[in-house]
Amino acid sequence: MNTKLVLTTTAFVAIVSVILSQTNTLHNLFAPPSIDGSKDQLHTCKIVHVTGAFGPESLAFDPNGEGPYTGVADGRVLKWRGDDLGWTDFAVTTSQRKECVRPFAPEMEHLCGRPLGLRFDKKTGDLYIADAYFGLLVVGPEGGLATQLVTEAEGQPLCFTNDMDIDDHEDVIYFTDSSTVFQRRQFMGSILSGDKTGRLLTYNKSTKEVKVLLRDLAFANGVALSKDRTFVLVAETATARILRYWLRGPNTGKVDVFAELPGYPDNIRRNSNGEFWVALHSKTTLLGKVVNFNSWVGKALLKLPLSFKQVHSMLIGGKVHATAIKLSEKGEVLQVLEDSEGKTMRFISEIEEKDGKLWMGSVMMPFIGVHNL
Ligand SMILES: *[C@@H]1O[C@H](CO)[C@@H](O)[C@H](O)[C@H]1NC(C)=O
Repeated sequence: MNTKLVLTTTAFVAIVSVILSQTNTLHNLFAPPSIDGSKDQLHTCKIVHVTGAFGPESLAFDPNGEGPYTGVADGRVLKWRGDDLGWTDFAVTTSQRKECVRPFAPEMEHLCGRPLGLRFDKKTGDLYIADAYFGLLVVGPEGGLATQLVTEAEGQPLCFTNDMDIDDHEDVIYFTDSSTVFQRRQFMGSILSGDKTGRLLTYNKSTKEVKVLLRDLAFANGVALSKDRTFVLVAETATARILRYWLRGPNTGKVDVFAELPGYPDNIRRNSNGEFWVALHSKTTLLGKVVNFNSWVGKALLKLPLSFKQVHSMLIGGKVHATAIKLSEKGEVLQVLEDSEGKTMRFISEIEEKDGKLWMGSVMMPFIGVHNL
């Protein structure tokens, strides 16, 4: 990194900071844009605190309809047992948990585990867990210590396992490794540096074979199969797109762009109609776009003495918000729900639709939200 570049970027960041904090007109240029047809309703959702925990990223209901279950920042998977009983411990991804006592301690994640994507096998009731540090794991319907299934693919270790979906006809699991360079707690580094080492993979439950379907992805994130299982979607967070990988039919093995989104997609979950709910970590801002097309800007930002909070705030345009998008089976936008001022919900990581309600997780909040449709 040469001095000129650091100076240029410092100036750029200083200008952006000043603009974000003071100038109203220009503020709008950097603030998250509004989305046509969006309904600003999510602030009315009901909050369910994950008492003593933080960052309920993914949500899953078991085959009996109980839950949801969620993975939190201290490495546990919790089960919601209703208003009276609250949350109880369900599973862990490592037995070495003596030091895993603080709700949010990123420096401990590689020891305590960080469960992200959760999915139940509908036939067996087993819970599959994508743990950012411990790979793909499974735990039986009674919970407890999960068993590690996959830690590497084609000779390369998993570095940031993120999300998955299960094809229960074929007994195959599709899952993502967001990066082979950056771990979860360095996710900003992956986004800002233009890292394109994410992968979409499959795990065959009977042969235990792991294959790479797609590589060179810019932060591979959420995964969802289509209802007819002809394709699997993968969120490419850094480019604000959802890619479609064809599993059957004339395009088998090909990939195309399923949707271009007004924000950074996290998990994708299908509803019973075969439509997809996509949780946006945040909307894309002008600065986000600049970073996406000029990776030197992001790399320079990373070298500056800025805290995670400051960089994150700049990228989201200095304004917290929550955005949920429903896509059709063809990738058309059907519905956009927002809490545009982040009054209640912020940084949604997943939306699970069940019985007329949307259950929303957030990797950066100590609660989940429940919205009545
Ligand atoms: C998984 O492995 C089994 C056993 O070899 C095979 O029959 C099946 O086709 C494989 N599934 C997929 C989707 O590749």
